[in-house]
Amino acid sequence: MSGRTNGGTARLETAGGTSVDLPVLKGTLGPDVIDIRKLYAGTGLFTYDPGFTSTAACSSTITFIDGDEGVLLHRGYSIEELAQQSDYLEVCYLILNGELPTSAQKAKFVHDITYHTMVHDQIQYLFRGFRRDAHPMAVMIAVVGALSAFYYEDLDVDDPHNRMVATHRLIAKIPTIAAMAYKYSIGQPFVYPRNDLDYASNFLNMMFSVPCEPYRLNAVMAKALDRIFILHADHEQNASTSTVRLVGSTGASPYAAIAAGIASLWGPAHGGANEAVLTMLREIGSPSNIKDFLAKVKDKDSHQRLMGFGHRVYRNYDPRAAVLKESADAVLAELGRRENPLLDIARELETIALNDDYFIKRKLFPNVDFYSGIILEAMGIPSKMFTAIFALARTVGWIAQWNEMIEDPEQKIGRPRQLYTGPARRTFVPLDQRG
Ligand code: CMC
Repeated sequence: MSGRTNGGTARLETAGGTSVDLPVLKGTLGPDVIDIRKLYAGTGLFTYDPGFTSTAACSSTITFIDGDEGVLLHRGYSIEELAQQSDYLEVCYLILNGELPTSAQKAKFVHDITYHTMVHDQIQYLFRGFRRDAHPMAVMIAVVGALSAFYYEDLDVDDPHNRMVATHRLIAKIPTIAAMAYKYSIGQPFVYPRNDLDYASNFLNMMFSVPCEPYRLNAVMAKALDRIFILHADHEQNASTSTVRLVGSTGASPYAAIAAGIASLWGPAHGGANEAVLTMLREIGSPSNIKDFLAKVKDKDSHQRLMGFGHRVYRNYDPRAAVLKESADAVLAELGRRENPLLDIARELETIALNDDYFIKRKLFPNVDFYSGIILEAMGIPSKMFTAIFALARTVGWIAQWNEMIEDPEQKIGRPRQLYTGPARRTFVPLDQRG
């Protein structure tokens, strides 16, 4: 069962004596919301909520998070079940269409994605404009944005067929673009996608194969990567998804909206945290330095955060981190990386932090980025690519939320209000009269 129902009203009384009854809306799961759309008309007041800590900006049927219980559901299915029993493209289908596919639907979807993986040959010339040491995320923002210059017909976002083609293109081409960004950074030739490979294996092949010798795909590695893709596929209204919705609300090209999502993801408070975790673990260097490092984290003046810890919504644990922690051991053993000094530091850091009052009081737990970097590193993926891989996997979530927004009859251009605290109106003083 899904949908929105009437949850009664909430009365707001102002100090000035006016009162207004606001509708309360009930979703399927999670807290009810007060519908404040008529608040300004009824009272002349706005609400104030920097960082959207109490504000639902849309209604959505895609993903549900219960932060207190550590629950993450896509279309009603738990992330644990999806990670263990499904595969990434099946999860993409589910996120996009609302139901798990039948065998025939799955085969068609896999075919549609597989046969859109090549990029226009002209795109390789865009890469040449970048320095070889450019961050892959900077390159991805530019190249994904540039897709809007290649696919004009997708600019009519009201056409459902155009939206579907753009959706397939983005999910299919983003691994090709991410792998090209990596190959360019190390001065190796670009590797074309292979249609005989599954989604994760194809990405690994584009990352690691070279023309002069065959690349041996490792099924364990492909499976582990596929699982990482599943764990990052969508996460309801986070900063990058909200960015995609906001850009998309103006009617902009989906490629431009996804490029904006990639830009938003890059920051260390969001997707950039997976790269930052590895940098942090390397800086700590040895379990014996953990105590000093944590003392620095607890000192507000140092502005040092424990990267990979904390989450705006999860206040108990991040279920994605729990799945990854479980698989980290198995994956590292399979990859022959049983001894991993960074994993040792991560484990000890986690144990110490979870027993420390500072973290307990603030409900800070490991998030998805704490373990994903260690697995990716063991696969030989350089840390500069970690956030690009997050972007690759999150593209389905972004584009599904973009589609949902366009189809939503309540959708309007996103336009927050503000509490103005600058100077009141004053008279312009000519330059020669200023003191
Ligand atoms: N290390 C140390 N202290 C922290 C941390 C941390 N990682 N996270 C939060 N705090 C403290 C913060 O200083 C504040 O303390 P006080 O109340 O004494 O001022 C309190 O906890 C609340 O922090 P906040 O910044 O108000 O919390 P938020 O919900 O706005 O921020 C967050 C959430 C994820 C940005 C933050 O926890 C953080 O910066 N974590 C590290 C970066 C990270 O791992 N990000 C990945 C998030 S999960 C994947 C994704 O979304 O992309």
